[in-house]
Amino acid sequence: LNPHYVVVGGTKGSGLALVEYLVRRKRTVSVVGRSKPRHFPSGADFFGCDITVKSATHRQLRRCVQANGPVNYLVFCQRYRGHGDPWRGELATSLTATRWIVDQLLPAFATGGDRALAFIASIATDFVVLSQGDAYHVAKAALVQLMRYYAVTLGGRGIRSNSISPGTVLKPEAAAYYAAREELRRAKEALSPLGRMGRPLDVAYAVDFLCSPRAAFITGHNLIVDGGMTLLGHEELAAPKSPSTSGGVQ
Ligand SMILES: NC(=O)c1ccc[n+]([C@@H]2O[C@H](COP(=O)([O-])OP(=O)(O)OC[C@H]3O[C@@H](n4cnc5c(N)ncnc54)[C@H](OP(=O)(O)O)[C@@H]3O)[C@@H](O)[C@H]2O)c1
Repeated sequence: LNPHYVVVGGTKGSGLALVEYLVRRKRTVSVVGRSKPRHFPSGADFFGCDITVKSATHRQLRRCVQANGPVNYLVFCQRYRGHGDPWRGELATSLTATRWIVDQLLPAFATGGDRALAFIASIATDFVVLSQGDAYHVAKAALVQLMRYYAVTLGGRGIRSNSISPGTVLKPEAAAYYAAREELRRAKEALSPLGRMGRPLDVAYAVDFLCSPRAAFITGHNLIVDGGMTLLGHEELAAPKSPSTSGGVQ
């Protein structure tokens, strides 16, 4: 059996890395985004649309189901990238469009076997990340609650719903930024219990697990994929990273 994955926002960054990973594993993959990347994996199908435009999105989702059949897994990787009002843009892209797409694709889900929704959220659901704006925080926090809502309301149909909250991901598009800021990258690595930044494949592995029968009894879960970064007590930021064996100064 070859499950059908619909990946919204699968044209760049972690979404594209997920698509490449799924294609390597011979899955059927439909990708939704505005622009087809130059190096789009052969083996995936691209359905181009701006998901904030309902009619165009509906048309492309219909085509996607006609082409690749009933949906097993629906994965949301998009975030707002535009030049307009970020508040309106983020809520429209991350929340309203997500809801439309879930509503439209639910009747097109497979009637048996493992089926799930997965949402890429962020650690900005629980922490304030100053490199992102207010809308991003609000949209991601709401997305996690929407995920839980679907977990409860779709459980009876056998559809699971989970989210993944990555910390900063060193995606190919950000490589030049961090290459020019070695010190920043090293500082982030030093803070991480696992000693490195996240990679797009770390996110892909988590999605692959949650969108598989191995996660058949997992629903309503927000899986943090940050290498343990957010486990650290905040005052540790001011202290060297060496555990005390004697209890230290309290
Ligand atoms: N990068 C990180 O460090 C990080 C950390 C934590 C969480 N995350 C989350 O992980 C996910 C992926 O992040 P990323 O940085 O890899 O994303 P990205 O490179 O900015 O990619 C965003 C994706 O969303 C699609 N998209 C945006 N607006 C759209 C629209 N109106 N219609 C259709 N598609 C649209 C883009 O496709 P087109 O441009 O082709 O439309 C693209 O495929 C996001 O949800 C992000 O919030 C990222």
